[in-house]
Amino acid sequence: MKTFKRTTITSALPYANGPVHIGHLAGVYVPADIYARYLRLKNQEVLFIGGSDEHGVPITIKAKKEGVTPQDIVDRYHGIIKKSFEDFGITFDIYSRTTSATHRELASDIFKTIDAKGGFIQQSSEQYYDEKAQQFLADRYITGKCPHCGNENAYGDQCEACGTSLNPTDLIQPKSTISGSAPVMRETRHWYLPLDQHEAWLRQWILEDHKEWKPNVYGQCKSWLDMGLQPRAVSRDLDWGIPVPAADAQGKVLYVWFDAPIGYISNTKELLPDSWETWWKDEDTRLIHFIGKDNIVFHCIVFPAMLKAEGSFILPDNVPANEFLNLEGDKISTSRNWAVWLHEYLDEFPGKQDVLRYVLTANAPETKDNDFTWKDFQARNNNELVAIYGNFINRALVLTQKYYEGVVPECGTLNDYDRQTLEEFANVKADLEKLLDNFKFRDAQKEAMNLARIGNKYLADTEPWKLAKTDMDRVATVMHLSLQIAANLAIAFEPFLPFSSEKLRRMLNLSSFSWDNLGKIDLLPAGLQLGTPELLFEKIEDEIIAAQVQKLLDTKKANEAAAWQPAAVKPNVSFDEFMKTDIRVGTVLECQKVPKSDKLLQFKIADGMNERTILSGIAEYYPNPSELIGRQVCFIANFEARKLRGIFSEGMILSAEDADGKLVLIQPSATVSNGVEVK
Ligand code: MF3
Ligand code: ZN
Repeated sequence: MKTFKRTTITSALPYANGPVHIGHLAGVYVPADIYARYLRLKNQEVLFIGGSDEHGVPITIKAKKEGVTPQDIVDRYHGIIKKSFEDFGITFDIYSRTTSATHRELASDIFKTIDAKGGFIQQSSEQYYDEKAQQFLADRYITGKCPHCGNENAYGDQCEACGTSLNPTDLIQPKSTISGSAPVMRETRHWYLPLDQHEAWLRQWILEDHKEWKPNVYGQCKSWLDMGLQPRAVSRDLDWGIPVPAADAQGKVLYVWFDAPIGYISNTKELLPDSWETWWKDEDTRLIHFIGKDNIVFHCIVFPAMLKAEGSFILPDNVPANEFLNLEGDKISTSRNWAVWLHEYLDEFPGKQDVLRYVLTANAPETKDNDFTWKDFQARNNNELVAIYGNFINRALVLTQKYYEGVVPECGTLNDYDRQTLEEFANVKADLEKLLDNFKFRDAQKEAMNLARIGNKYLADTEPWKLAKTDMDRVATVMHLSLQIAANLAIAFEPFLPFSSEKLRRMLNLSSFSWDNLGKIDLLPAGLQLGTPELLFEKIEDEIIAAQVQKLLDTKKANEAAAWQPAAVKPNVSFDEFMKTDIRVGTVLECQKVPKSDKLLQFKIADGMNERTILSGIAEYYPNPSELIGRQVCFIANFEARKLRGIFSEGMILSAEDADGKLVLIQPSATVSNGVEVK
């Protein structure tokens, strides 16, 4: 295998049109950060690049909705996103943005170089044009009726009611969202990257030379390549983006997926104006892209083809893309607010960044989509972080405090059990490396937790608190070794749980972290004064978790109400048919729950002639049925009597069903005589 001198790590640039959530963190930023921290601990040369993706149509739509400029939108979210990443300890060397001057210039230059080399073709096509607004319409700017489900508000790229992806020309009665007018077809010319011309080398490079890529990545590339590649437009008719640097390109900007990946390079250039090329052009540099699965084609096929067409750049060595993280069984969605937002998490769980990092890595969607649940979050915190890692560290430190005033004791002669324990973690460094080098962060974190398990078991089996009564020499050895294990844990967990490792390092007075020290048992010399023990993790109680679950249930309810649409109107009825239904007003004389039924209320109604009993399935909406006594209600007087739960119900009381399914009684707006008809 080729050896490299340095590694450029990139992580997908998030769109600056909303805050970031746990899905982003789990899929891209935590794994990228684990990898960057790991290589730095190994003293390797690393550059970790991040930034915001600030172009694209959704940003302009959001701006329009809010009545602000696209620049306002990206300024706002760039700040929020950047802060979330800092708060979670994502150690970017730079986090910049694709609206920077450096980026605009470099993206233009790369376009020009490719253009000058004949790396683009130009093609004309017909696109929807808004004559009133005098502009071409991006797919998202066109709405109309979905040809599949009839939804009147489908977008030009997708119907959100039935999930079908669409072309704008599929829409029935298309309408411009800008002026409201019907768009017309007009010819427009664009620059295309002829991916078909790149197919041969891409096939060789991916399918033959990179068989080691993750199966999900390799498989997706193979299916794209097997379908055959088509030219892809790299320009758009839009007024938000980087102007196409060519003649005859008025009103045209670079397609967001052309400029955004160049953002990795321009952010490097902004950080290192003199040496950025080393990180992007030197054959001894290894380039790794961390992304989610929806970005695979852009990073494995389109961007490499751009770099190749430009001619002076290296290509990625690996693209360890992840699948998606779901939330409580449903796809995470910004528009439906179905997410755990990082800034909200930190407000609600201050100081608990590592808990979330731990849970997201333990459930990382490395090979398939995975699910985040609050119950699992609690269980992993309480049963793993607190009960294993935290418990071991706490016992080791508190006992050292108790018996040795916090000074590391001398190690005596090792017995068989000590040696057996040491053997168990002798390979921890090699084992961790093998996993981390192959982007298996879930298993790697498990391995680190296993080390804590070894420590925990060692203390539980040797029972120094009992030995202290008889054999203080033995206690010294046990505590000495336990503290060495603790020091190993501080190093092993650093890439995963950096905040806790830093805390532990202070408590242990460990002078420095180095990956090379992993597996050694002389990290804390006898006589070293330790710091004050503190708890590394704390238990999370049921109420806290219940509140989070409730918050999601509330979101779900609100979404259902927002998505509610009136039912389709039933076929017409004639006046005569309508008049067959005898609706009348009566007054409630008695009302109580039907025993052993959750739903039914039993009414006694004064109907103007007599009294009648009617059962109605509204008990859950009227928890105090006696309050209804004296009210007037509407009922169907000629509804065929039915026996329910052994009771004869003579009629039907009318209710309206609200969007959330709640039933409310229909009541005349003024008191009328009992028995009058409703017409
Ligand atoms: N903004 C894109 C997304 O969220 C990712 C862009 S990655 C880059 O899907 F390579 F283009 F920067
Ligand atoms: Zn539809």
